[in-house]
Amino acid sequence: MELLSGPVAVVTGAGSGLGLALAERFASAGLSVVVADVQGDALAAALEQVAAHGGDVLAVRCDVSAETDVEALVESTLARFGAVHIVSNNAGVAPRSDPWFGPITSWQWVMGVNFWGVVHGCRAFLPHLLGGGHIVNTASIAGLYPGFSPAYDASKHAVVAISEGLFGMLDLAGLPVGVSVLCPGWVRTGIADADRNWPPVLGDRPPPAPSAAVVEPHVRRAIDEGATPAYIADAVTDAVQAGRFWVIPQQEFLDLAVRHWHTIATGLIRRRSNRRPACRRATRSSPR
Ligand SMILES: NC(=O)c1ccc[n+]([C@@H]2O[C@H](COP(=O)([O-])OP(=O)(O)OC[C@H]3O[C@@H](n4cnc5c(N)ncnc54)[C@H](O)[C@@H]3O)[C@@H](O)[C@H]2O)c1
Repeated sequence: MELLSGPVAVVTGAGSGLGLALAERFASAGLSVVVADVQGDALAAALEQVAAHGGDVLAVRCDVSAETDVEALVESTLARFGAVHIVSNNAGVAPRSDPWFGPITSWQWVMGVNFWGVVHGCRAFLPHLLGGGHIVNTASIAGLYPGFSPAYDASKHAVVAISEGLFGMLDLAGLPVGVSVLCPGWVRTGIADADRNWPPVLGDRPPPAPSAAVVEPHVRRAIDEGATPAYIADAVTDAVQAGRFWVIPQQEFLDLAVRHWHTIATGLIRRRSNRRPACRRATRSSPR
């Protein structure tokens, strides 16, 4: 779909990072933009920053994990602009706690934002896009190549699956709604501190995993050395205009995913350690 003056774009998680860059990119292309985020101060700053690119901008506080908030976001968008054309389900979080020994609330938080946020966004906005529109779901390369953290990987695999299913369904039905799924590698954003938005309703913020002391400095460095949000935003707008489904803007991460599928196809995956699980050792040494 053409990015011309007139259309209305909604971006969730627009208070920071990728969402903010996308909202700025849409505003500078002449679109009216709705910036939505759960973090009030970031949202207020984003409103000013995006409005500086021109165009009409509306800020809506919205927790995408809550269906009623996303429905209210639709209402606010239609009340202000009368229509919606592009929806970027972008809000996302990454856990720091241990997936297996830490509290289950960490899984609930990650799935609530990353998985349910995308489901709510697609379901709430789709009926209003049927005259012509485009949905962009932000997954991650972790949606194709697990290894970051189990809850994050699972949520992003789900986003890829949801997006492919939606794309296929709309295509089959011949409806004029495009779908893209964004799978970036590392990007210079605030994701390493995502638990700044830990929802108190889930209880205490879980402590970082013991391994975090070793792993986090590497993650933070990878993020610092990652792509700029503006570079990723350009790739998204190109994909929307071209009607392209896959948006995997960093070739080196696409290569990783391809290598992963190669290991699946050839059955090469195996334990890194040569040590056998204790139960198997016991079985082997036990008398027949
Ligand atoms: N940064 C990376 O390396 C990277 C890589 C791949 C994918 N992603 C994905 O990009 C998306 C954007 O993240 P980012 O990297 O820009 O991080 P970020 O932390 O800079 O931005 C995320 C935004 O989402 C908002 N948010 C958090 N919980 C929310 C909720 N419940 N409802 C609404 N908004 C909420 C935050 O306030 C923040 O403004 C996420 O889906 C993330 O998983 C990031």
